[in-house]
Amino acid sequence: MAKVCVITGGGSGMGLEAARNIDKDVILVLTGRTVAKLEKAKALLESEGHEVHVTACDVSVRRDVHELCLLAAGLGTIKTVIHAAGLSPTMADPEKIIMVNAVGTKNVNMEFYKYMNDGGVIVDVASSSAYEAPAILVKHQIYEEAEYKEEAFLKHMTGEANLAPQDYLKSGMAYTLSKNFVVWYAQKCAHEYGKKGIRVVSVSPGLIETDMGTQEVEKSDFAKQMIENTCERRMGRPEELGFAIAMIADERNGYLSGIDVLIDGGASTGKRFKGVKGE
Ligand SMILES: NC(=O)c1ccc[n+]([C@@H]2O[C@H](COP(=O)([O-])OP(=O)(O)OC[C@H]3O[C@@H](n4cnc5c(N)ncnc54)[C@H](OP(=O)(O)O)[C@@H]3O)[C@@H](O)[C@H]2O)c1
Repeated sequence: MAKVCVITGGGSGMGLEAARNIDKDVILVLTGRTVAKLEKAKALLESEGHEVHVTACDVSVRRDVHELCLLAAGLGTIKTVIHAAGLSPTMADPEKIIMVNAVGTKNVNMEFYKYMNDGGVIVDVASSSAYEAPAILVKHQIYEEAEYKEEAFLKHMTGEANLAPQDYLKSGMAYTLSKNFVVWYAQKCAHEYGKKGIRVVSVSPGLIETDMGTQEVEKSDFAKQMIENTCERRMGRPEELGFAIAMIADERNGYLSGIDVLIDGGASTGKRFKGVKGE
């Protein structure tokens, strides 16, 4: 039976770059909300020798994700899910960010789990901002509500984000908390799904030069500072992350599960060396 790889947010950025690194004998299913974007990505990937199917799906809508699973399962054995769909702080209000980034991840993992078996892998794209979440706002008892009390989860997460003082900061906090949730949830799922032989890994990119990343740098001094903290004083390239994500998903990486892979060009460690002689 043919192997299938589903990529949410596959029409652009890191999702699309990951697709370019998937073996050509694997059927790709790309999804996002904008069909025109997906068709353009399909044409590029087909010109590079991939078999590609595209379908619109809003990951924050459980029914959409269920239909995506049915489509993918009808094409072969779902081996790989790369969940790259997401919204950044400049793109939406706190509630929408939490719906897409956090509830969307819960929808993707829970639905695909039902259709995957031994040797399968889910890679959830989080963010290095997950590590910036204030400890006082990281409440695992709220995270635990995501699967069975979605409304309460959304209300509590949005309430936490809205404690920030201005609109951009509220959305920024929603982003940080939603990605902190993604890291936590991927680890929870890894321990649960591992019994069925399915790996779950999260990836936390630093600032990456996609449309989303560039937009954030323009708006935020914190983002500019993050670039200064990297080893090479630069943003990551989408193709670097695409390669890393595809390698993490590769079946030869069978022992990689239940952890977050932080790929931030050294930004998180760079802070420690400020003012150290030689800097
Ligand atoms: N770029 C960075 O600096 C950076 C850093 C850390 C983490 N990340 C994360 O990396 C992931 C990929 O981002 P990117 O930088 O590659 O940006 P991107 O090109 O904007 O990719 C995000 C994709 O998600 C899709 N999407 C958004 N909302 C969706 C929804 N509700 N349902 C389904 N698809 C949806 C978008 O397509 P449609 O709009 O057509 O739906 C888009 O193709 C995101 O999760 C992002 O949070 C990015």
